[in-house]
Amino acid sequence: MGRHNFLSIKDFSPEEIRYLLDLAREIKSHPAAHHGALKGKTLAMIFEKPSLRTRVSFDVGIQQLGGFSLYLSNAEINLGKRESLYDVAKNLERMVQGIMIRTYAHQIVEELAEYASIPIINGLTDYSHPCQAMADYLTMLELKGDLRGLKVAFIGDGNNVCHSLMFAGAQLGAHTWVATPEGYEPASEAVEWAVQRGWTTGSTCTLTNDPLEAAREADVIYTDVWASMGQEAEAEERRKLFMPYQVNTELLRHAKFDAIFMHCLPAHRGDEVTNDVIDSAHSVVYQQAENRLHAQKAILLELMQYREAAEPVRHADLAQTENR
Ligand code: CP
Ligand code: NVA
Repeated sequence: MGRHNFLSIKDFSPEEIRYLLDLAREIKSHPAAHHGALKGKTLAMIFEKPSLRTRVSFDVGIQQLGGFSLYLSNAEINLGKRESLYDVAKNLERMVQGIMIRTYAHQIVEELAEYASIPIINGLTDYSHPCQAMADYLTMLELKGDLRGLKVAFIGDGNNVCHSLMFAGAQLGAHTWVATPEGYEPASEAVEWAVQRGWTTGSTCTLTNDPLEAAREADVIYTDVWASMGQEAEAEERRKLFMPYQVNTELLRHAKFDAIFMHCLPAHRGDEVTNDVIDSAHSVVYQQAENRLHAQKAILLELMQYREAAEPVRHADLAQTENR
């Protein structure tokens, strides 16, 4: 495939996304076949926001492939304040072979990728969560067999997880329906991209403010927290507005009888989802969480296996050039 970074689902062709999913399935069924594939390689993990799944799945994933990870929190880096993003990129590329970053503005991930000569992986921004979407569709593939024509209903806030779910759905031929309160719709350019990609893959992307319309005959009911990391101050105000979008037994009744319930986690039980749904036989949230590991091992392999750290320009080289 020969891609250098994993920043957005939109950067790939439908075939490349499908290839990564197939590789993830292969890795999941034959993990031992890939032991040692990233021997001696190190992944730096920059976290500007908290994490359970992303941190653990990348850490365990690279170890299973024979490599190492380094956890770097704000206390170590303090991106842009202690040191510029450029200098962080230029230092890390001398010592590690890849960087996973979880941050706020999506632009930070894009700039890091521009500065660094090593692969960059988006571990969540305010705009998107592409690794999550890979695990989500891997889970749907395992449980539903075929992704084409599936009705995937996202109910709640039109956030980062929703954007990546729409992008990957458009790439893989699934129909995404997004039900949000007015004013909390996904970004319009994200919807436009999903709609247009759907013209070639046969998928559709539909917005509504009616949760029942989205849930009706759905194969998948998906929700996420109503206030994302960084929006804590809005949590109370949002709770009132979003309550009609709660995924509960009554809402689930409108979906297909064999519909699955998905959530990227962490969940706020009693808010966006009730216990009787998240703990029901419809719920696949822990399989979904486990699949972060397998999907990201595929991403790590693809980006890091056959790539040596690009040789940065050294002062000695410059001196030689000048002497010539
Ligand atoms: N779903 C997810 O990314 O979980 P964490 O925030 O715990 O990493
Ligand atoms: N939308 C959530 C996802 C957490 C994995 C957030 O950004 O906090």
